[in-house]
Amino acid sequence: MKALVIGGSKGIGKEIVNHFNGDSLSRTATPIDISNEDDRKSILDISLNYDVVVLHAYAHDNSQTKLLRDLFDKWKEKKHDGYLFSSSSDASMSWRMKEGKDMLYSANKRSLNAVSHFIARQIQEGKAPMRHTNIIFGMLDTERARTKPQYNNGVRGKDICKVIDTLYNLPKDCLIPEFIMEARWIDV
Ligand SMILES: NC(=O)c1ccc[n+]([C@@H]2O[C@H](COP(=O)([O-])OP(=O)(O)OC[C@H]3O[C@@H](n4cnc5c(N)ncnc54)[C@H](OP(=O)(O)O)[C@@H]3O)[C@@H](O)[C@H]2O)c1
Repeated sequence: MKALVIGGSKGIGKEIVNHFNGDSLSRTATPIDISNEDDRKSILDISLNYDVVVLHAYAHDNSQTKLLRDLFDKWKEKKHDGYLFSSSSDASMSWRMKEGKDMLYSANKRSLNAVSHFIARQIQEGKAPMRHTNIIFGMLDTERARTKPQYNNGVRGKDICKVIDTLYNLPKDCLIPEFIMEARWIDV
């Protein structure tokens, strides 16, 4: 299985790249910036060379959502039968939001979920041969997340890799459009 992680230069993205011996696109290494429209266009063609694409990068704007939509449109047009994962956040569940949290992050992630739902429906109706799962993460177990005062426990990269591997190896007509992963709090 040939894997590409958009945002695989550090943290969980890098763990996914290493686990699947895959490739990464990001600002530092490639460089590709998902906020840039031309860069997003170039990602579309690159993505067609992969069996699995993980859209992990978030750029503090709506570019992750736009890229998800564009990847779907491209794969549908080209009848690409890859597996497209996207990384959402439990911040998209706005009823969990506390005062002081970034409202735009929540709104952007909700927009990602909404586009994912449109995509899932079309895939279910047989309009595109690809598969897609939007994974809604709680706090991740990354170096950066561990420094946050509210950090208690996080979703491990190795467990995310197991989920990607399991979903990828399901029969192709078994669809998992959405998946929530979070870590149980410890010592509370
Ligand atoms: N951290 C958490 O606890 C948490 C919880 C829920 C969901 N998530 C989601 O998980 C994903 C990763 O979050 P993270 O905080 O763990 O990030 P991270 O470790 O900082 O990694 C982000 C990755 O995205 C790349 N990236 C960032 N901006 C980019 C841009 N404009 N264009 C291209 N690549 C870009 C970074 O590489 P470069 O710097 O090289 O560009 C890096 O490889 C995000 O979608 C986030 O919303 C995270």
